[in-house]
Amino acid sequence: MNTVIVGAQWGDEGKGKIIDILAQTADYVVRYQGGSNAGHTVVTNGHEFIFHLIPSGILHKGKICCIGNGVTIDPAALLEEIERLAKAKIGVARRLKISCLAHVIMPYHKVLDELREAKRTHKIGTTRRGIGPCYSDKINRCGIRMIDLLNAKVLRNKLKDNLLEKNEIFKKVYQYPGFVFEALYRDYLQYGRKLSSYICNTALVINRAVEAKKKILFEGAQGTFLDIDFGTYPYVTSSSAISGGSCIGTGVAPVKIDKVVGVAKAYTTRVGEGPFPTEFGAAFGKLIREKGAEFGATTGRPRRCGWIDLLMLKEAILLNGISELALTKLDVLDGLKTINLAVAYRYKGTLLKEFPQDSEALWKAKPVYKQMQGWSKTISDTKDYAQLPPRARDYVSYLEDALKTEISIISVGSSREKTIYR
Ligand code: GDP
Ligand code: IMO
Ligand code: MG
Repeated sequence: MNTVIVGAQWGDEGKGKIIDILAQTADYVVRYQGGSNAGHTVVTNGHEFIFHLIPSGILHKGKICCIGNGVTIDPAALLEEIERLAKAKIGVARRLKISCLAHVIMPYHKVLDELREAKRTHKIGTTRRGIGPCYSDKINRCGIRMIDLLNAKVLRNKLKDNLLEKNEIFKKVYQYPGFVFEALYRDYLQYGRKLSSYICNTALVINRAVEAKKKILFEGAQGTFLDIDFGTYPYVTSSSAISGGSCIGTGVAPVKIDKVVGVAKAYTTRVGEGPFPTEFGAAFGKLIREKGAEFGATTGRPRRCGWIDLLMLKEAILLNGISELALTKLDVLDGLKTINLAVAYRYKGTLLKEFPQDSEALWKAKPVYKQMQGWSKTISDTKDYAQLPPRARDYVSYLEDALKTEISIISVGSSREKTIYR
C-alpha cells in the first residue's frame, strides 16, 4: 500500500504528527518536494522534534527515510538535523537516502530570497530559506544537484558559471557584493563528502521497495493552497505540494499510488502574506493562536488563524484525490460557544460555492458561515470517538457529510497518544 499524505490547507496542518503515527506500520517514508521551509513537528515522550528535511518517520527504528529528487536541500540544514538526531541517540546510517538528483540550496539562493522580499512592494512573506531561487535555477537549468557535490570538476564548472551571472546581478540590481568562488567551492565539496554515504538513486530504491510490496508513505510538505500551480498564486511556495508532486518528486509512477490521505486542521492557519477569507479578527485570532500554539515551526512567526473553510477542503479533496482525512487540533476548539464553518463566499452579489481561481475574488470574498454549537469539555484525553462530546461529534459528522469524505483520524493533542482512530 503506497499512501500520499498531503496538507489540505496552507501548511502546518499537523502532517508531521500524522506521518509519525502512520509510519509505525510503514516501511519507507519519502519526502517529495519543498525544502527546509517545512517544519514538521513530532512529539513523543515529552520530547519535541521539528523536521525540516528528514522525513517524519525517522523516529521509528528500522524505517527507511528518503529525500526525493523533488526536494531542495540545504546541506548545512540537513547536517544539523542529522546531528540533532544523533544527540537524541537516533542514528540515520543506512536508513537515510538522499536523491542524487535533488537540487542544492546555495547561500546565493538564500540571500536572493531575502533581497527579493525586501525589494517587493507586495511581499510573499517567504521563509527566506532560498526555496524560490533554488527551484528557479532548477527550471532555468543552472541548478546544482546533490550528485554534483561528489564531483569536484562538475561542481567547479557549474559554480563558476553560476557566480559569473549571479554576482553581476547581485551587484547591479541589489547592490550586494556577491559571492567568492573559493569559499563556496570548498564548503560545498565538504558537504558532499559528509553526505556522500546517503546520496544515491532513490528512484531505484523506492521502486524496488514498491516491487517488493513494501508499505510506502509519501510525506507532503506545505499544503494544497501553497502549491505552485493550484495555490493562491503568487502567495505560494515554488514546488508541487499536491499529491501529484509525489510522482515527479520521487520517480514513482502514478499507477503505483494507492491512496491519498489529506491532513486538515479543525480551523485554518496561514503563515506569510496572501488572501485568507475566513481569517479571524485580531482579538479572537490572538486567542486561538495562543490556544493552538500557532507559531511557525521554521521561522517562529505568528500564524494567522481563521475558521475552517469547506470550499478549500472540497478543492483540496478534488485536486489531490483525497479519500480520507485526518482532522487535527480539534482540542483547540474546546470551550467555544459557537463554531463557524465557511460553506460559500459572497462576491459581487453572487454566491460562490467553489473555491475561486480569480485572486481578486479571494481577496474580497465574504464567507457565508454555517454556525454550529461548541462544546465545553476538554477533549484532549479522549481515546474513543464515542466519548467525544456530542457537539464535537456533530462537527466531525457535518464535515464528513459536507465533504463526502471519511475522517479516519482525529487528533486531539500534539503527542502520539492523543489520537482517536475510527
Ligand atoms: P506540519 O507542518 O503540518 O507538520 O505541522 P507543524 O508541525 O508545523 O504544526 C502543527 C503544530 O500543531 C505542531 O506544533 C504540533 O505539535 C501541533 N499539533 C499537531 N496535532 C495537534 C493536535 O491535535 N492538537 C494540538 N493542540 N496540537 C497539535
Ligand atoms: P510545512 O511543511 C506553512 C509559506 C511561507 C510563505 C510561502 C512561500 O511545515 O507545512 P517559501 O519560503 O516556501 O518560498 O514561502 O509559503 N510556507 C509555509 N507555510 N507551512 C509550511 O511548511 C510552509 N512552507 C512555506 O510562509 O507564505
Ligand atoms: Mg509546519
